[in-house]
Amino acid sequence: MSRPLTIAIDGPAAAGKGTLAKRVAAHYGLPYLDTGLLYRAVGKLAAEAGGDLDDPDAMAAFAARLDTSHLDDGTLRGHEAGELASRVAVHPPVRDALTAFQRSFAMGEAGAVLDGRDIGTVICPQARVKIFVTASAEVRARRRTDELRAKGRDVAYERILAEVKERDARDAGRSVAPLRPAADAHLLDTSELGIEAAFRAACDVIDRSLANP
Ligand code: DC
Repeated sequence: MSRPLTIAIDGPAAAGKGTLAKRVAAHYGLPYLDTGLLYRAVGKLAAEAGGDLDDPDAMAAFAARLDTSHLDDGTLRGHEAGELASRVAVHPPVRDALTAFQRSFAMGEAGAVLDGRDIGTVICPQARVKIFVTASAEVRARRRTDELRAKGRDVAYERILAEVKERDARDAGRSVAPLRPAADAHLLDTSELGIEAAFRAACDVIDRSLANP
């Protein structure tokens, strides 16, 4: 029997991995988990309760109490929740508290697509396909700026670029599960690719792996 098709899609903020992962999941008929939402939900819960975002144990208590059936709250996708997420995600006990849920999702018989920062390295090192999506910080900041302006927010590109770089440094510099490609990940640089071309490139990688089980 062939192994379930588990696909890990990792990469830095605003690289387009969420859009890509969603399309890949729909195309292959697989369940999809945006793992960033877990960290976003913990950050938001903690901030609303006035918790100390720098206190690992306090943040882990929020992670342990997280109701994973309520991740569809639209405000979680906002820029501010992303910043809170990046801050609580540096704490090892927070990551530990969220690991079992992610692994059980990934282990489903049907296979699954998960996107995040450490799916291919920590959560699912056995994933059948690993894709690491990148794009230059400038391209990502430009996309994020356009996205926010399309929503009517008056944001400065320079400020968004500074935030993207700061987030990269925090996500890649933390001691536990830092953002980095797994040794066997396929790198997909979307700096010069639109979503359609990125999707086709990802399908090529996946189809090749399906042809060589
Ligand atoms: O993918 P995202 O932008 O929704 O993630 C928000 C933050 O959550 C990100 O800056 C770091 C953290 N995160 C993480 O540490 N590990 C993951 N698997 C997913 C997100």
